[in-house]
Amino acid sequence: MDGNGRWATARGKQRLFGHQAGGARVREVVESCPGLGVKYLTVFAFSTENWKRSPSEVSGLMTLFRRYIAKETKALDDNGVCVRFIGSRERLDGRLITMMDQLEELTKDNDVLYLTVAINYGGRDEIARATQRVAIEVAAGRLDAATITAETFGNYLDTAGLPDPDLVIRTSGEARVSNFLLWQSAYSEFEFVQTLWPDFSAEVFADCISSFAGRERRFGAVTG
Ligand code: FPP
Repeated sequence: MDGNGRWATARGKQRLFGHQAGGARVREVVESCPGLGVKYLTVFAFSTENWKRSPSEVSGLMTLFRRYIAKETKALDDNGVCVRFIGSRERLDGRLITMMDQLEELTKDNDVLYLTVAINYGGRDEIARATQRVAIEVAAGRLDAATITAETFGNYLDTAGLPDPDLVIRTSGEARVSNFLLWQSAYSEFEFVQTLWPDFSAEVFADCISSFAGRERRFGAVTG
């Protein structure tokens, strides 16, 4: 959800103002998913690299996440959204972790939309943590190292059980992956849009989906 800072600066406001405006877009995009045939949505809210931002921006974002959860819980549950958080919980505030756990527990049986929120997430960090889990299983004799495959390794990632993304959308004109779902996006389509996240409306989202729908996906095979 890139571009919040630039959106705010362009209006002579603090960066946090942009993050707040971005939060409102999350609701709009989430609500548009069922109508667009989107069953799984993952949003990148805070990366393992975002701790390098100023302490005031980091703490402002953490407060925003807590407020977002408090404010959106009922609507998410009423709309049948199953929420899951990915990323490392290390370094996160205890109050936030409790709210994340409660939201996951409350919505775990919902099945209209599977919303994954990446907080303190980095693709490399996720792969390293998954490797630690695998190593622990092997060392304990519960897993035979020779049987590990790309498919079984995926079961140790934070996204275990979720399908790989068909489409990854990056906003704000940046054409980088920036450590997002590195393992899972091996065969994803990418859409890079100029729109800053606070301007990313349901219409822009629908345009991205229709552009994706027109693409031919070969997954390394030959067609025709
Ligand atoms: C990146 O834009 C955006 C973030 C680091 C924060 C995203 C968070 C929200 C939109 C709040 C919604 C919260 C939840 C839990 C769904 P940037 O600051 O890098 O923008 P810039 O590149 O213009 O500086």
